[in-house]
This record gives sequence, C-alpha cells and structure tokens, in this order.
Amino acid sequence: MKIMLLNGPNLNFTGIREPGIYGNTSYESMMETVALEAKRRGHALTILQSNWEGQLIDWIQQAYVEKYDGILFNPGAYTHYSYALHDAIQSVHIPTVEVHLSNVHARDEFRRRSVTAPACLGQIAGFGMNGYLLAMSALELCANPREEQK
Ligand code: DQA
Repeated sequence: MKIMLLNGPNLNFTGIREPGIYGNTSYESMMETVALEAKRRGHALTILQSNWEGQLIDWIQQAYVEKYDGILFNPGAYTHYSYALHDAIQSVHIPTVEVHLSNVHARDEFRRRSVTAPACLGQIAGFGMNGYLLAMSALELCANPREEQK
C-alpha cells in the first residue's frame, strides 16, 4: 500500500518532551523503526511532520492528488479542536487511522475528546510507538470497507 504517515505539533520533540508520558525514544529513531517495518511489510511509506495545521491540511490534500491508499495520523493537540483537520480527512475519502502514543482517555479531560477521530476509520491510543504499527495493520485489514462507503 501507498501510505502517508502524518505527525502533528510537538511530535518531533518525542524523547525530549514529557518522557514519563511519551518515552525516551527520539522522534527520529521511532520513525526509523516504523519505516523499516513498513518496508518489511511491502508498503511505500512517506513520513511527514509539521507543527502547522495548514501544512498538515496541504499534505492530506496531496495524499488525495497522489492517490495514497491510507493515512496514519497523529494530529497531536489538534486532535482535540481542529475542525479544519476533521474536514480535510473527511474530504479526501482516504482510509485514515488516528494514532496517539499515550492513552488520551486516561489523561486530562480535554484529551478524551477527539474531533478528528469521527472522520477516521478508528483510533489507536496508548501503545507508544507500536501504535503506528497497529494502525498499519488496521489499514491492511480494514481499508476496503471504507472504500465501499464512497
Ligand atoms: C498525543 C496526545 C495529544 O493529546 C497531545 O497533545 C500530543 C500527543 C499522543 O500521541 O499521545 O501532542 O497525540
């Protein structure tokens, strides 16, 4: 599959920011592991990160133009309030799986609500870096049903 992995704000500081919550592994090394696993599974994976909402929207639209089969998306804090990202995901009809390193449901009240997840196939939260690999499996197993809903 041709998959786009998008990471939102502050994800590039993984390993530096709140290690008790997000772990000690650096962003680069985490993404290297995900890239290797994607290659092993035969996927063409593009990994992108931005701290800017508009840039993330541009990339989601780019995924449409370039006919990506799936998107793995950790929108960071935008998860909790970006209707613009919700609409972008909704617009492109590309199966998208939302990923969070931490268990957002076991943290602050404001993290329990995702405005982006309703536009996604589903959400995976609380498994650290493995969440990206689980989300990849979700795309492998479930990308087709979404196709049929078009
Ligand atoms: C996060 C959870 C968000 O609530 C937070 O704002 C992040 C990271 C996660 O991966 O656990 O930046 O998306």
